[in-house]
Amino acid sequence: MPAATRTCLVTGAGRGIGRAVAQRLSAEGHRVALTARSTDQLGQVAATLPGPSLVLPADITVASAVDEVFAAVEAEWGAVDVLVANAGSGVSAKLADTTDEMWRGQLDLLLTAPFRCVRRAVPGMVERGFGRVVVVASIAAKRGEPYIAAYTAAKHGVLGLVRAAAAELASSGVTVNAVCPAYVDTPMTDVTVAAIAEKTGRSLAEARAALAARQPIGRLVTPEEVAEAVWLCAVNGAVTGQGINVDGGAVQS
Ligand SMILES: NC(=O)c1ccc[n+]([C@@H]2O[C@H](COP(=O)([O-])OP(=O)(O)OC[C@H]3O[C@@H](n4cnc5c(N)ncnc54)[C@H](OP(=O)(O)O)[C@@H]3O)[C@@H](O)[C@H]2O)c1
Repeated sequence: MPAATRTCLVTGAGRGIGRAVAQRLSAEGHRVALTARSTDQLGQVAATLPGPSLVLPADITVASAVDEVFAAVEAEWGAVDVLVANAGSGVSAKLADTTDEMWRGQLDLLLTAPFRCVRRAVPGMVERGFGRVVVVASIAAKRGEPYIAAYTAAKHGVLGLVRAAAAELASSGVTVNAVCPAYVDTPMTDVTVAAIAEKTGRSLAEARAALAARQPIGRLVTPEEVAEAVWLCAVNGAVTGQGINVDGGAVQS
């Protein structure tokens, strides 16, 4: 990005990857609006940022909340230049046990909410001839994994959204990319580790080590490594329509 201070909006900024992305954008000199449901976590993140921040608590799956969050940023700082659609969580079940509620919940959070955010952000970006959209997807956007059909379908879907939007906007100065991590050392992965431990009778440390060993690099990805890839998408105007794997070599595509 040019040296100008940009207005950034990060969803799911209260912990994990979103927190690391917010910290990176702020450290690079940009103002960062933070949204998630937990006001206290957003406040804790805001307190760590070296630059200006806005705390905007919202459930991003509520359609009206998307407009309210963008309107609040615009009222304070003007239009969003950099959108990082990161908010997410996962449910795990066998395909046959995946309920309509689980399916709908994953699509609402991981596909429809990013779609609404991108749709809200893009017109202003096109008007100004500059914009960066980065969706935090997953390697589950690239390949199938057992017991996470709804999550995998939603992540494949959001990569489709990214590719279509990038194709449509390529000549406008707006880039649209996805970052696709494998297991990252965040609270979301702590939940996965606890589930493995419960199912297998292993200790938490053993379950975490087993998860790390499944990745070619032999360890979990760090949130900062994901934030670094988000930053690449922010600074490089020639990278668009990509799903950039940050996965320790798990998926070679
Ligand atoms: N961790 C991994 O191994 C991994 C791997 C690949 C992809 N990812 C993806 O990376 C993204 C971030 O994951 P993470 O590991 O950083 O998870 P995390 O540590 O659990 O953080 C998730 C963030 O999303 C927010 N969020 C969840 N539901 C929300 C809702 N309905 N409305 C608004 N905010 C919501 C959470 O805040 P509140 O709960 O307070 O709302 C939190 O700030 C997700 O999209 C995830 O699918 C993670």
